[in-house]
Amino acid sequence: MVSTATRIGDFQFDNCLMNAAGVFCMTREELAQVESSAAGSFVTKTATLEARAGNPEPRYVNTDLGSINSMGLPNKGLDYYLDYVIEEQNRIGSKPHVLSLVGMSPDETHTILKKVQASDYQGLVELNLSCPNVPGKPQIAYDFETTDTILKEVFSYYTKPLGIKLPPYFDIVHFDQAAAIFNKYPLVFVNCVNSIGNGLVIEDETVVIKPKNGFGGLGGDYIKPTALANVHAFYKRLNPSIQIIGTGGVKTGRDAFEHILCGASMVQLGTVLQKEGTEAFERITKELQTIMAEKGYETLDDFRGKLHYID
Ligand code: SIN
Repeated sequence: MVSTATRIGDFQFDNCLMNAAGVFCMTREELAQVESSAAGSFVTKTATLEARAGNPEPRYVNTDLGSINSMGLPNKGLDYYLDYVIEEQNRIGSKPHVLSLVGMSPDETHTILKKVQASDYQGLVELNLSCPNVPGKPQIAYDFETTDTILKEVFSYYTKPLGIKLPPYFDIVHFDQAAAIFNKYPLVFVNCVNSIGNGLVIEDETVVIKPKNGFGGLGGDYIKPTALANVHAFYKRLNPSIQIIGTGGVKTGRDAFEHILCGASMVQLGTVLQKEGTEAFERITKELQTIMAEKGYETLDDFRGKLHYID
């Protein structure tokens, strides 16, 4: 019997597929839709301390090869999502969930995490160090010194299970440097990758999204090879206690299979979920199960991280 069940830290999931933060997760209604689908979990839209309207529209556009967005962290504020995941945690039959968050400054990040630490929420938190779309705010995880400082400060008071959402890295030296920092901390997971930041899509003679003169994060087919490389690079470099969530370019069971082969313990759907809706979870799960059955794999452990190289 083929199983796509998985585990992140101490949390068991019946299925390894879930949404990526930003897609189907802005409202309780959207989160409930993911919850009642074949997904193994949901992650909330990245919450800031206060609600944000985000960037002006149009700010998300699907393209033939994926998507471009510059949402600018629109969200309903920490309390909205924190209250919901606590409610869900107390509901019999609920799946384990992930609360995504980040402050608009390091101080705000600490205020948020201290609030979560003091709350009844016992589930996973994903600290988003990689949003490329807030004008004037660089992607935190491209600044290794700041990342190291934030993590050091966070782990001086935060004792609940925490992971981080990373931007894609593009240089072997950066994989080495980033991994050396992450390995210093009791992270439960790293999520590779957020969108490839600051791409530009043009139709006729005009950019397709309004914020930042059209610059925005790329998702979908454009980013799968980069996502796979990041998943595998960190799988090879991180302490085995730090698991990998693979995100980027997954639209078929084959794509999910490749993320797991590269080392992912959980796989997130972004652009495909936006395009296809929550039915994508069932379709991609079935496609993944078919591939596993054809290859004689019964569990994800049978092939996770076992990517073959050419001698
Ligand atoms: C956004 O809200 O701009 C997208 C979130 C992200 O890329 O982290």
